[in-house]
Amino acid sequence: MNGKVRVGVLGVKRGTGLMEYSLDSCGSKMEVVAICDKWIEGLEKEKEKHPDSGIVFYPDFDDFINHDMDAVVLANYGNEHAPFAVRCLNRGLHVYSEVTACQNMKEAVELVEAVERSGKIYALAEQYCFMPAPRKMKEYYGAGKLGELELADCEYAHDSSDAWHRLTFGDPDHWRNRAYSTFYCTHSLGPILHATGLRPVSVTGYESSHNERRYSVGAKTAAFGLSLITLDNGAIVKALNGNLRGGTLWYAMYGSKGKMESARSITKDGGVGHFSAELDGPDGKEVRESLYLSGDVSASDYDPYGGAEHVCFGQFIDRVLGDETADVIGVYEALDMTLPGLFAYRSILQGGVPLDVPDLRDKRQRELYRNDTLCTDPKAAGDMLVPACSKGEPDIAPEVYERIRRKFLEEMEKGEFKPE
Ligand SMILES: NC(=O)c1ccc[n+]([C@@H]2O[C@H](COP(=O)([O-])OP(=O)(O)OC[C@H]3O[C@@H](n4cnc5c(N)ncnc54)[C@H](O)[C@@H]3O)[C@@H](O)[C@H]2O)c1
Repeated sequence: MNGKVRVGVLGVKRGTGLMEYSLDSCGSKMEVVAICDKWIEGLEKEKEKHPDSGIVFYPDFDDFINHDMDAVVLANYGNEHAPFAVRCLNRGLHVYSEVTACQNMKEAVELVEAVERSGKIYALAEQYCFMPAPRKMKEYYGAGKLGELELADCEYAHDSSDAWHRLTFGDPDHWRNRAYSTFYCTHSLGPILHATGLRPVSVTGYESSHNERRYSVGAKTAAFGLSLITLDNGAIVKALNGNLRGGTLWYAMYGSKGKMESARSITKDGGVGHFSAELDGPDGKEVRESLYLSGDVSASDYDPYGGAEHVCFGQFIDRVLGDETADVIGVYEALDMTLPGLFAYRSILQGGVPLDVPDLRDKRQRELYRNDTLCTDPKAAGDMLVPACSKGEPDIAPEVYERIRRKFLEEMEKGEFKPE
């Protein structure tokens, strides 16, 4: 296509924040032309931030989708991306979808088929794949330096209790209050799959119990989930997701020629900006490397993810502009990253049995799941609704939500509200 990519954004919290980082580096290639959110106060605040910008603001998605634009950023509720992606693709729009790709198998089938039918670009916004250390791991794996992957560790656990009022507004039915322990799995597993190009074939899941920390913020889910995922070369991935005090963000890969990892911490000087490796050198001697990479990525000052947002979104824009080499996470890979979380939870509900992870590249497998709505969202599950915690959903007192709601409203009134 010629000219700048005209982008519409759905969701003013994460969506407009992501655009602010991205405009900085992609501004010569794209422009924001429309913003939509049904949260009127949030939309009004966005309007105030962009006077005379020409951006059109929509409270209603049905009007927004008819705006003259090329692509849409979906930063709506984390469990509702697929149906909105399908609508956008059906309208001929390219889609950059926040994580995760879908919340049940019916949606997964519909999403794959909509992408195939439309011929439009679909990209998952899994920017953790583009953080400095995971990018270096992809480069090294692609160059054969690790040999064949045997084992990977990946952890994303974040104690967001202090921010829960900003994340859920005290709404008992907010998707985050029902997002079970293994659902939000792409930040951990995504970078391992993207680095290696391997596919998950089976998964076994485990989860902790619900605890006081979850109760006190109104979340109905277990504190954390663990998955053991077998990949198509036989390698095993240990994936941790959830809400743990102290938090963790860590990637490690062990292969036939050695190992490489990010620093096992979320601190400013370590974490995903630090890559280290112990690998067989060309003469058979071990080569040790320890690299601080954060400074390599442009615009990291604006982007809390070490430049990863820019890179991830920039690749999408480049692909829309016709660059076939741009590194986007397309729909099949997006589902490889998402479905292990869905099937880990099914495994948990069945007492920890290993389950196959479907591959929807195979049209026959789609038929097995076309009407499978199993999930924890009452709006989408129909008669296949399952509890948000395998040990049973806790009965959370209304006062808990009232307290969280008050905290959110107080911040709004004082003008202190900042989206997470
Ligand atoms: N990649 C990352 O690191 C990262 C970080 C944070 C959030 N996220 C993702 O970003 C997305 C948004 O998260 P969030 O915490 O900003 O907000 P959220 O999930 O609370 O809300 C999304 C926004 O979309 C709006 N919205 C939802 N449905 C709508 C509709 N039908 N019409 C109009 N507006 C609608 C809501 O009013 C809200 O402002 C989620 O998918 C989340 O998983 C990703």
